[in-house]
Amino acid sequence: MQGIPLSFRRRTVLAIAAAGALAVTGTVFLPGSASAATTLGASAAERGGRYFGTAVAAYKLSDSVYTTILNREFNSVTPENEMKWDATEPSQNSFNYSSSDQIVNQARSRGAKVRGHALAWHSQQPGWAAGMEGTALRNAMINHVTQVATHFRGQIDSWDVVNEAFADGSGGGRRDSNLQRTGNDWIEVAFRTARAADPGAKLCYNDYNTDDWTHAKTKAVYRMVQDFKQRGVPIDCVGFQSHMNQQSPYPSNYRTTLSSFAALGVDVQITELDIQNATPAWYSGVVTDCLAVARCNGITVWGIRDSDSWRASQTPLLFDGSGNKKAAYNSVLTALNNGQPQNPSSSTPGNPGPSSSSPSNPGTPGGCSASISLNQWNGGYVATVTVTAGSSTINGWTVSIPSAANVTNAWSTTRNGTSFSNVSYNGRVNAGQSTQFGFQGTGTGPSSASGCSAT
Ligand code: G3I
Repeated sequence: MQGIPLSFRRRTVLAIAAAGALAVTGTVFLPGSASAATTLGASAAERGGRYFGTAVAAYKLSDSVYTTILNREFNSVTPENEMKWDATEPSQNSFNYSSSDQIVNQARSRGAKVRGHALAWHSQQPGWAAGMEGTALRNAMINHVTQVATHFRGQIDSWDVVNEAFADGSGGGRRDSNLQRTGNDWIEVAFRTARAADPGAKLCYNDYNTDDWTHAKTKAVYRMVQDFKQRGVPIDCVGFQSHMNQQSPYPSNYRTTLSSFAALGVDVQITELDIQNATPAWYSGVVTDCLAVARCNGITVWGIRDSDSWRASQTPLLFDGSGNKKAAYNSVLTALNNGQPQNPSSSTPGNPGPSSSSPSNPGTPGGCSASISLNQWNGGYVATVTVTAGSSTINGWTVSIPSAANVTNAWSTTRNGTSFSNVSYNGRVNAGQSTQFGFQGTGTGPSSASGCSAT
């Protein structure tokens, strides 16, 4: 190597070493250029630990063209149909996880994340549930969420806890369904139930036609998430399905939609992306917008090849029916590689992470009180604590619970031993109003708090 400049020798060594590692990392280092990832998952991972995922069908895992692309490109998967209610609980209280376990095991064996889809949904209910209503349906839904989230406990990065609960059109209300008719609180009940069953999974609300910030449906979902955050309902993320076509085009305000939700203190994820005719500029626009929002921590396309799509005739995906990369693939990879590497910014479940909005009005310090609602079972418990402001607005609170033993997880609070303080989005509580936080533990839970101090 004598006579060759040191800097060039170093780049050459890097290039050789990187070529050797290509199969593992999907990244090559070219002499004289920055590193450029060569797969979607590797590039997304370099952008703040994001993921790039796909929907997967269990019966296709024996197709080698399919699995070659899957294993090479995608570091997250979503079972396309296998975790839905009709698939996992075909008869009441009789559960079948064979095809969903197959997808989860395949993904986890190669280090990919899993998005769970979907615990509670008006569609694809088994016949026995579709014919139910009222209290029987409410209890069946709670049992379903508990059983399925418990089965996959510790294996799911993010759960679509509730899917497509809002109506289309200009009304901005809930969709009518048998679940909705059990009471307007069915969504928060599903979230609280999921949190208790798998405290380590991020809990998402997921919907379609919520990409355009000006649409009534988008605003309606936004108001629900805002309300949930204010009241301490455990929600960590919002999924934007982003099925785009001429009727639902890529909106110029897409980034505003993502950043507005993120400012509420939730992660945002693009969960079912497909675009009619796979217009490259729309695909790259979606990716660039996600990368511009720190809390947009992952993108999932709804299938691998056009022939795998639920709307195959629209050829909406990144690979053609033979598994060849399309122009849209190149536009997505280029957009990913052009993004700035960023620090991870997503939340852990129950914690707000960065970018949550903070109150601007300082208010007046005053007192507070705390009460505990305990869900105790043999060996463990979930405690939900309600903090209520006294006669004046408070801007922060700390609740002391000396008997909070063996706490394994807490949400919507910062815990220091047996002392629980507000996080950024729930410190301000107006006079007479309340907010909630919670924690989970083993053994016997506390039944009362010893004090609440406000700032
Ligand atoms: O597996 C059976 C097969 O045995 C039978 O012969 C065949 C006859 O129709 O049906 C097959 O099941 C179909 C299943 O897809 C698997 O291909 C169902 O009929 C069909 O309804 C089901 O469609 C799925 C659809 O959700 C159901 O609502 C699509 O694959 C799936 O891509 C789609 O995904 C949804 C998301 O979950 C939620 N957001 C919208 C998205 C697109 O509709």
